[in-house]
Amino acid sequence: MPEMKQVVEAAEYIGSKIQEIPRFCVVLGSGLGALADHLKDRREIEFKDIPYFPESTVVGHKGSLVIGRLNDIPVIALQGRFHYYEGYSMDEVVFPLRCMLYLKVPNLIVTNAAGSVDVNYRPGDLMIIRDHIKLHGDSPLRGPNFDNFGPRFNDMSDPYSKDIRELAKECGEELGISLKEGVYYYMPGPSYETASEIKAINILGGHAVGMSTVPEVIVAAHGGMKVMGLSCITNMGTGILDQVVGHEEVIKAGDEVKEKFIALLERIISRWNR
Ligand code: HPA
Repeated sequence: MPEMKQVVEAAEYIGSKIQEIPRFCVVLGSGLGALADHLKDRREIEFKDIPYFPESTVVGHKGSLVIGRLNDIPVIALQGRFHYYEGYSMDEVVFPLRCMLYLKVPNLIVTNAAGSVDVNYRPGDLMIIRDHIKLHGDSPLRGPNFDNFGPRFNDMSDPYSKDIRELAKECGEELGISLKEGVYYYMPGPSYETASEIKAINILGGHAVGMSTVPEVIVAAHGGMKVMGLSCITNMGTGILDQVVGHEEVIKAGDEVKEKFIALLERIISRWNR
C-alpha cells in the first residue's frame, strides 16, 4: 500500500523538475493525448523515472508527465493513467493525483473515453461530467486517512464544480462546439458491459460509462481540488445500436475529436478563475 513517504519522494522528484507549481493538472484519456503535444516550453518526465510511479500498460496510453504552458498558464499533463483493471490497487491508481495534491496543484481536468448509455448521444460527442455513480465496492480512500489532504469522511456534494461546468458550457457555445452534460457511471472493467448492464446503468441515472476517472476525482475532491470532467463518447454502450464494442474504435473516435477537444480545453483553462 503506497504511503505518504512514497508520495513525498515522488512529488519532490517531480517538483525538482519544474520551475513553478502548475495551475492545472490535466489527465488525458485513451486517444486524447494530443493536448500534451500542444504545450509550449514542453518537457517530459517518463513515469518510469519517477520514484514509486506505476507504469501504464494500455495501448493508446503513453506513460509520461508533460509539463508546459497553455496560453502561458503552467500546466502538467498526465499522458496515460493507471486503471484498476490493469491490476493496480486503488492506491496505485491515484498515486499521481496524490503527488499533485502534495505539490498543491489547485485545479484538475480529467478526461476519458466513454461509452454512451443515452440513446441521444453519438460517438464523437463531448460530455461534461455533472456527477458520477460508483457502486463498485473499492475506494481509493479506504484505509488509513491521509489527514493532511482531507477528512476521513469527505463531502461529495459538488465534486465537478458547478461554476466550472457553467464556464465549460459558455466556452462550448463561443466555439460552436455542442456539449452534452451527464452522469458518468464507473465500471471497473476490463470487460465492456453486457446489454443488461447498460440498461441497468440507464435506469440508475448514468448517461455514459467508463473504467477510469472516478478514483482520481474522489482523491482530488478529498484534497480540495477544483475539478472538471470531460468524456469523449467513443461508442454506444452494448446493446444500444446492436454493435460490438472494441478498443480500436475507442482510440479512433478520440483521434477524430482531437481538434475540438483541444480548442475547448484551451479556452476553459484560459477563462477559469485560477
Ligand atoms: N464501456 C466502458 N468503458 C468504455 C467504453 C464502454 O462502452 N467505451 C470507452 N470506455
